[in-house]
Amino acid sequence: MERIIDTDIRDEDILDDSIRPQSLNEYVGQTEVKENIRIFIEAAKMRNEPLDHVLLYGPPGLGKTTLAHIIANELGTNLKTGSGPAIEKSGDLAAVLSNLEPGDVLFIDEIHRMPKFIEEILYPAMEDFELDIVVGAEGSSRSIKIDLPPFTLVGATTRAGDISSPLRDRFGIVSKLNYYSEDELVGIIKRTSKVLSMEIDDDAARELACRSRKTPRIANRLFKRVRDFALVIGDGVIDKKITKEALDRLKVDKYGLDQIDMEYLTNLIEKFNGGPVGVETIASSIGEEVSTLEDVVEPYLMQEGFIKRTQRGRVATEKAYEHLGHDDSRLF
Ligand SMILES: Nc1ncnc2c1ncn2[C@@H]1O[C@H](COP(=O)(O)OP(=O)(O)OP(=O)(O)O)[C@@H](O)[C@H]1O
Ligand SMILES: [Mg+2]
Repeated sequence: MERIIDTDIRDEDILDDSIRPQSLNEYVGQTEVKENIRIFIEAAKMRNEPLDHVLLYGPPGLGKTTLAHIIANELGTNLKTGSGPAIEKSGDLAAVLSNLEPGDVLFIDEIHRMPKFIEEILYPAMEDFELDIVVGAEGSSRSIKIDLPPFTLVGATTRAGDISSPLRDRFGIVSKLNYYSEDELVGIIKRTSKVLSMEIDDDAARELACRSRKTPRIANRLFKRVRDFALVIGDGVIDKKITKEALDRLKVDKYGLDQIDMEYLTNLIEKFNGGPVGVETIASSIGEEVSTLEDVVEPYLMQEGFIKRTQRGRVATEKAYEHLGHDDSRLF
């Protein structure tokens, strides 16, 4: 099912580079991460050395890719990109690495999906800026060393748990991005409104922030949809009334939950008596991928206190029962 609030990147998001902040000063929230990175960048520049390798992790749409671009901008270097699943052969990685110029930032998205043997080629590259590759046919193959220019690897992942510890240990800076506060989202929405030259009043910005799943990508996407409603059926200004109407039509409720979240909770409560039940069982009962539930749906439901993860499976909380208008028949 297509979800207005799914966190996957869509074409409409990619096309909108204009709303992506370009500098640390424009990057809203994530204060601790931002301030640390600011200091490390400053220090690296003073020493005239590349910045230590950076691992960014956290749920989709919170600004990992954006931050990687900002790091390159602030360092005044180029950003080159690769993606975990696309690097399948050692030659793919060698091509990316040998294309680097001194001081470049190499951004590898979904780094947890890189095959293990590729990871092992990455270790000496990260530690000693050296590439060890095997050349020649079987039987007459030999290993050669190629010097690489000093560079900074920025890795991003939604699944920190899937990163092997040897890889993780080679990152000097490991930062977790967190869900955004309502005030921070209001800041992001106001910024987007300026960039896109479409006014939004304070109440409307707050309403949108509440329903954006604490995620900038969703806030920006909902902003654009609400803008459409304001243009076509409103009077061109985004106010609270049009925002509510638009979000209701898009079936995004006051907690930012959409149809899949609601189906998840309804199934958990009505079919499985509130749990505990395994995520695979829930996934098949609502016809969704386990990975979608684990990466996108559950982190937010958990963060908002609708479900709990226990050793025996997922459990609905009192808040979930209340939100669905059920009397909780169990004991709390
Ligand atoms: N801190 C921020 N301030 C302002 N806008 C932000 C911020 N973080 C993210 N955004 C906006 O949200 C959009 C999504 O962010 P981004 O693509 O960086 O997320 P991501 O963490 O890389 O997601 P994924 O895990 O899906 O790759 C960006 O295009 C940007 O416009
Ligand atoms: Mg990204």
